[in-house]
Amino acid sequence: MADPAITIATLSPNDYVEHEVALAELLRDCVAAGASVNFVMPFGLDDSLAYWRDKVSPAVQTGQRDVLTAHVDGRLAGTVQLDCGTPPNQPHRADVSKLLVHPAFRRRGIARALMEALEANAGRRGRRLLTLDTATDDAEALYRSLGYQRTGIIPGYALDAAGECFLDTVIMYKTL
Ligand SMILES: CC(C)(COP(=O)(O)OP(=O)(O)OC[C@H]1O[C@@H](n2cnc3c(N)ncnc32)[C@H](O)[C@@H]1OP(=O)(O)O)[C@@H](O)C(=O)NCCC(=O)NCCS
Repeated sequence: MADPAITIATLSPNDYVEHEVALAELLRDCVAAGASVNFVMPFGLDDSLAYWRDKVSPAVQTGQRDVLTAHVDGRLAGTVQLDCGTPPNQPHRADVSKLLVHPAFRRRGIARALMEALEANAGRRGRRLLTLDTATDDAEALYRSLGYQRTGIIPGYALDAAGECFLDTVIMYKTL
């Protein structure tokens, strides 16, 4: 059963603006802790804010993307995105991206709760095919436990967060 201390929400465009700095801090802290999610150290708050402002905010404001949040005791503990900005021939598909749980809040079921809420949103939006890629064993274990299928692996796909070595990525999907 979901932990009642965890509150999951989908941010409205206005709420999104209010949460942008906290989201930037969360991403910065996750990258500093080694998360391989497109960025390489050094990665400070300004770098993180630039991502949220330039890449995420426009898509939230047009309704193309859902940003979900998880709060625990009033603190932002996790987030995930449902990206519905697919080409015209893929109206039934969406991408799952930037599933992040702050290192201080891991293994409490927050990622699972975020993914369950994301899938409910996808269903409401008529997006019945979800696709994602992930570099970590931890995240793959989570996605597998939620019913995502591994299609394959691309070796040496991206640098790790420290910029020291290339990591494989795993491509996964789930049909709702
Ligand atoms: C991967 C991540 C999102 C998991 O968040 P979390 O809130 O700790 O995950 P949950 O507590 O919901 O765990 C759910 C399941 O995932 C798996 N899992 C999560 N973390 C794991 C770990 N460190 N090792 C092994 N399995 C793990 C387990 O099956 C777990 O179920 P269990 O606790 O009942 O055994 C978090 O570690 C994170 O933010 N990592 C860095 C960013 C990242 O890799 N994101 C994914 C990019 S696609």
